[in-house]
Amino acid sequence: MKRDQKFFDMYSLVIGVLALFAVAIFVLAMKMSDLTQGVYTAGSEEYQASIEERIRPFGTVLLPGQEAEAAGPTVPVAATVEPVATALTGPQVYNEACITCHGAGIAGAPVVGDVAGWTARIDQGDDMLYDHAINGYTGSAGYMPPKGGRLDLSDQEIRDAVDYMVVESR
Ligand code: HEC
Repeated sequence: MKRDQKFFDMYSLVIGVLALFAVAIFVLAMKMSDLTQGVYTAGSEEYQASIEERIRPFGTVLLPGQEAEAAGPTVPVAATVEPVATALTGPQVYNEACITCHGAGIAGAPVVGDVAGWTARIDQGDDMLYDHAINGYTGSAGYMPPKGGRLDLSDQEIRDAVDYMVVESR
């Protein structure tokens, strides 16, 4: 009986020490996790922020007008190149659009360089010639189509062409 009692005492002591040891390890582990992962303690603001950063969606849908709220890199937009409006010179217009008729006198067109054919026309004044060249004109000799059929040309280009034709026909 004495020996049983001794065993029991010893047994209780060992169990007690083991239990203490377990509690000590548990407390130590808590302390260590606080020290090493303090920032990431669940529930802390930093922890929350770090989660939000990781699960942040890739992109967002912005409706028109919300562009200013868009974060992130803005794609540089290449400067729009203004199309260079190259106005044709008088001779260029003439060679492109008028020479078909006015070069050879087709359909009654007064030939450029034919002074006699142009004197009466030139005497009408530039404004009348411009008007007839830009808006078209049907005279006794034939039909002059508006802008010689080249409606894509500007009024100024037509005036320059008329000036050129007049100078060449004086
Ligand atoms: C389809 C043929 C044709 C083309 C192309 C043409 N003309 Fe004429 N043009 C005529 C004819 C025909 C007349 C003479 C009309 C008349 O007096 O009866 C004329 C007359 C004119 C006159 C004299 C108008 C007047 O009041 O006497 C001018 C200026 C003139 N053309 C400018 C031009 C110019 C500038 C172009 C080119 C942009 C051009 N024409 C292209 C047929 C043409």
